Amino acid sequence: MKGKPLVSIVSAGLSKFGKLEGLYAREIFAEAAKEAFDRCPKLDPKKDIQALFVGHMGESYEHQGHTGATMADWAGLLHVPATRTEAACASSGAALRAAIYAVLSSLADVVMVGGVEKMTHRSTAEVTEYLAMASDYPFEQWHGITFPGLFALMATAHMHKYGTTEKQLAAVAVKNHYHGSLNPKSHMQKEITLENALSSRVIAWPLKLYDCSLITDGASCLILTKPELAKKYTDTPVHIIGSGQASDTIGMYERESFTSLTAARLAAKKAYEMADAKPEDIDVAEVHDCFTIAEIIAYEDLGFCKPGEGGQLVEKGETKLGGRLPVNTSGGLKAKGHPVGATGTGQAYEIFLQLTGQADKRQVKSAEIGLTHNVGGSGATATIHIYRRG
Ligand SMILES: CC(C)(COP(=O)(O)OP(=O)(O)OC[C@H]1O[C@@H](n2cnc3c(N)ncnc32)[C@H](O)[C@@H]1OP(=O)(O)O)[C@@H](O)C(=O)NCCC(=O)NCCS
Repeated sequence: MKGKPLVSIVSAGLSKFGKLEGLYAREIFAEAAKEAFDRCPKLDPKKDIQALFVGHMGESYEHQGHTGATMADWAGLLHVPATRTEAACASSGAALRAAIYAVLSSLADVVMVGGVEKMTHRSTAEVTEYLAMASDYPFEQWHGITFPGLFALMATAHMHKYGTTEKQLAAVAVKNHYHGSLNPKSHMQKEITLENALSSRVIAWPLKLYDCSLITDGASCLILTKPELAKKYTDTPVHIIGSGQASDTIGMYERESFTSLTAARLAAKKAYEMADAKPEDIDVAEVHDCFTIAEIIAYEDLGFCKPGEGGQLVEKGETKLGGRLPVNTSGGLKAKGHPVGATGTGQAYEIFLQLTGQADKRQVKSAEIGLTHNVGGSGATATIHIYRRG
């Protein structure tokens, strides 16, 4: 058996992802928490949960800060020590790291960790401005560059260096919309064709509408405990066997490369070493496809293929359900949606379903080892986790 368990996931919850009109973030988080509690009847949340960590990116959306205590209150965990983590789109990947620290330090035996964002009640212009706060203010935001713009720079660099094509970018969108059509909680429920993707309007060339992730409302959570306590709560735990997190320059202009994310490569190296695993051992992965080019770069940074070959990997269908290594079976950020603070633990929720055989039409046969790759901003934060069926 590879990898010693660091902590075990005994339950998980996910709200519906989409335009959740009339709901506050706190209500959406409560929906995810309820699913996690309902899945784990042996757990008494009020008695057993000793800490809560919540990833949340922005107060601006609801004019609401103090997210840790707010979510604890609405999840029915009043008085539990509750802390918010912020690392842009990797806010709940970072929350997961904090939760692992808490369990490993024995400060808490059972911890809830999750994330939440309510975005769709704001205009696209407002959301674009709030998201841009995760880039460098003086040299990026101030000049008007947005996230679609930053990832378009990576896409053109990748096309220039490796010959990656617009068709290969579109192939990521087609695959993830297909996976999303199999996920009842996904924001987008319909399949798209290559032609739909290629003919959609340009957002920041070469990225078109279908190359971009969605502006979405949603929440996700996990319940973690020490491996030796896991069987007290469930017969089918999922162990986290590797965890890596790394940072990079906030400004993209100072990076060593535009075609690879150093933080993701460093975090992956740590996680693989800790898990005693190699890229070939991974059966299913959820990666941060905030833009289609980001998924192609993720394949390369995670060692699923050689640098420059990510476009071919998706084009050949190797990362589609039924392929060699299915990626983003949930629909990913592209089709399931990207409520930024909820994304990291939302990815872990999909891996929990896959490794416990509960992924229904999206089930990857005999999946035993899973991986999540969660990126903040244009790559100044990356968190990678590796999971094994218990
Ligand atoms: C791409 C983007 C600019 C489109 O926003 P928009 O132009 O305001 O689009 P609208 O909200 O008016 O939607 C128009 C239609 O396109 C659809 N749509 C919107 N965004 C979409 C996307 N990313 N993919 C597919 N369809 C999308 C909507 O559902 C709507 O369809 P409908 O007319 O059938 O209801 C916006 O989705 C965006 O900014 N995405 C990136 C978010 C981001 O940067 N996240 C952080 C990453 S680091």
